[in-house]
Amino acid sequence: MLNRVDSKKQHNKIKFSLSALVIVTTLFTSATAFADATLKLSHNQDKNHPVHLSMQFMADEAKRLSDGGIKIRIYPNSQLGTQRESMELMQNGALDMVKSNASEMESFEPAYGAFNVPYLFTDIDHYYRALEGEVGKEILQASKDKGFIGLTYYDAGARSFYAKKPINTPADLNGLKIRVQPSPTAVKMIELMGGAPTPLAYGELYTALQQGVVDGAENNPTALTTARHGEVANIFSLDEHTMIPDVLLISSTVWDGLSPEDQKIIQQAADASMQHHKTLWQEMTAASMKEAEETMNVQFVTVEKKPFQDAVKPIRDEAINNPAIAEYVKQIEALK
Ligand code: GCU
Repeated sequence: MLNRVDSKKQHNKIKFSLSALVIVTTLFTSATAFADATLKLSHNQDKNHPVHLSMQFMADEAKRLSDGGIKIRIYPNSQLGTQRESMELMQNGALDMVKSNASEMESFEPAYGAFNVPYLFTDIDHYYRALEGEVGKEILQASKDKGFIGLTYYDAGARSFYAKKPINTPADLNGLKIRVQPSPTAVKMIELMGGAPTPLAYGELYTALQQGVVDGAENNPTALTTARHGEVANIFSLDEHTMIPDVLLISSTVWDGLSPEDQKIIQQAADASMQHHKTLWQEMTAASMKEAEETMNVQFVTVEKKPFQDAVKPIRDEAINNPAIAEYVKQIEALK
């Protein structure tokens, strides 16, 4: 007879094997589906998140432009793995497309690290000049020899702190465990501000906040509603330390295997979805803030940014001396 601990272990094992089986089955069909050009795209957001909706727009557009020839099936909510796992699956040929965030991408392609420099952008127009300009395109192409390329960016807003108390100055982070994306620069940023960084996958964050594994996190306001973080951390302090876009990526093997016409269609659909996302993002961020205030009792706090900017200045100074990103950072700064 199993004792309770063993039976729980056994239960977890079965649960794990079942989810592993679902992933393996899905990925196995991926190989077969590849022949009839159904591309599988994995990401970590809910279906009601603006980035999911914009990627669905991209998939519909690719289907329309190819008269139904190109099919892209989207798997949301980390069903096929975290962002990191999805990237690895794509590099191994088991997945065709992935949406990740430029922050986490610095471990796969250092060029994306340029976006991790805090307070790099002066405003939204500057941000878009970089994303849509030469420098943005160069970064998307930089990973060619690493098994994938970027197709487009999606606005992911400005990231700020949220916790059960206001973060008015970096000193308020003292002794707080702050969840960050798995990215060396994000870890460094929290250390410089005086907090204790805890890298975690996005899907684990709600429970981590609820159980006090972390005291706070940092993200854009849509996380409060689409991932319900506002239920477990309801003071959002608008220090807006970074603007780090989401990125739509495709496997180089899949890309190289497409006809030039299909490549053109997919690129066109991706570009159109980025434009579509521009307005959708603004509208849905405003709606999220309103919903968070009205239904979750979230409070948005305005803070003075200068002390935060001063604390993280060493990241910009290091970036300018880091050959992997210096040129990109300078190009972005020249677009101010
Ligand atoms: C944002 C971003 C996601 C990212 C998440 C995170 O929501 O759009 O791509 O995974 O932040 O903090 O992990």
